[in-house]
Amino acid sequence: MQQKGDIAVIGLAVMGQNLILNMNDHGFHVVAYNRTTSKVDEFLNGNAKGTNIIGAYSIEDMISKLKSPRKIMLMVKAGDVIDQFIDTLVPHLDTGDIIIDGGNSNFTDTERRAHVLKAKGIYFIGTGVSGGEEGARFGPSMMPGGMTEAWGAVKPIFQAIAAKTPNGEPCCEWVGSGGAGHFVKMVHNGIEYGDMQLICEAYQFMKDLLGLDNENLSEIFNQWNNTELNSYLIEITANILKFKDTEGYVIDRILDTAGQKGTGKWTGINALDLGIPLTLIAESVFARCISSQKAIRLQAESVYGKKSFHKLSASDELLSDLQQALLFAKIISYAQGYMLMQEASTEHDWSLNYGDIALMWREGCIIRSVFLDKIKAAFAKNPKLENLLFDDYFSVILKKALPSVRRIVAKAVEAGITMPALTSSLSFFDGFTTGRLPANLLQAQRDYFGAHTYERLDKPRGEFFHTDWIGSNTHVSSSGYNV
Ligand code: 2AM
Repeated sequence: MQQKGDIAVIGLAVMGQNLILNMNDHGFHVVAYNRTTSKVDEFLNGNAKGTNIIGAYSIEDMISKLKSPRKIMLMVKAGDVIDQFIDTLVPHLDTGDIIIDGGNSNFTDTERRAHVLKAKGIYFIGTGVSGGEEGARFGPSMMPGGMTEAWGAVKPIFQAIAAKTPNGEPCCEWVGSGGAGHFVKMVHNGIEYGDMQLICEAYQFMKDLLGLDNENLSEIFNQWNNTELNSYLIEITANILKFKDTEGYVIDRILDTAGQKGTGKWTGINALDLGIPLTLIAESVFARCISSQKAIRLQAESVYGKKSFHKLSASDELLSDLQQALLFAKIISYAQGYMLMQEASTEHDWSLNYGDIALMWREGCIIRSVFLDKIKAAFAKNPKLENLLFDDYFSVILKKALPSVRRIVAKAVEAGITMPALTSSLSFFDGFTTGRLPANLLQAQRDYFGAHTYERLDKPRGEFFHTDWIGSNTHVSSSGYNV
């Protein structure tokens, strides 16, 4: 008789197939199922030929082929499909069985599903899986969260198939309860938006203002890859820029309108909801929005005139400034992402482990980089670190890089090169490091037109004052009306 499966995976698109093959490579017996069952045979006779992978042709068939407690991982389209599968699966499951959602679900859906399934005695895990097809096949970064009781049963599988750091640690740890795993995956994607946008801004600065060609640009990104900026995204950028087909450089023929699937937007929405100034990622999402409005941009260009840049010399100093500026902005972006996770952790009672999150992103995913070791080290040194910007390693770099950022932003602004992400990093830094901001005037305005009251510098916090700005002699302050 065929050995029973350790885990089932539903969904045989590329990610699902590759995860199954990865699990099989690590000695697990995987049951493979797909709504369109012809894909099961295609898989078994194709990529899965000669493996221990077990095909299933119905939900009942799949259930009967699994060891108890059953572990069933959904690798299907996010959204309603997950709810439909959960509804279909539940009547066939026993108390203690585990459903895992490995898609890009919104964390609020994961929270809801975990809650509903708990009441039915079924465990639910929502896990971020990052690294694309290649990651899924040979080692993704995995961010599981949900019901902690279920972690022990899936941990050996997840940690075996996950990417490993250079020290051999798996890039997969328990993130927290409810939707914590999918939340952290969402922030990962938001940070990815920021990293990519920053690289694109540096590219445009060098191309338009310094007049560098693709070969030079590729070489510079290659050099940067040997610095603190070392990362997968910098590495692929260097490769992309010099890539030629029979018609020449591919990069020069690609339409400049960016797509997005929504995780960057969700990160921004959550930041607004939680009141966290996640400016760099938000600007990166908006930069994609502007890029996608190609027709109206061309119209606007014709109204205001096509920019002609007075080229600057690509001196070592200027290139070093740009490199420093990129590093500065990257630190700010991660600091903002961590601020969001810290706030969400408090809000949802997740007790996130921030060092482990850096570890999970260290390899296997799109934002993988050496830089993440430093974040892990910062939280290892001080698990209660209030903000990444207070860690010595990062503060030394930021102080050193600050004059470079100012020079690059000034040159970009003067020339008319758009660098929204980089510029926002500097604006955030200047605001964050300013003890006294002009919000005293803002509070006065609110009190003037809406009697919203204000606190005073010379009085304890929590005492509110109202001024009769126009001599109306009214002593009413606003309670229900907020602007
Ligand atoms: P399919 O091959 O039967 O279309 C990625 O699209 C994966 O999600 C595929 O395995 C696909 O199954 C599955 N999927 C998409 N929509 C689905 C639905 N409404 N019901 C079940 N599976 C679905």
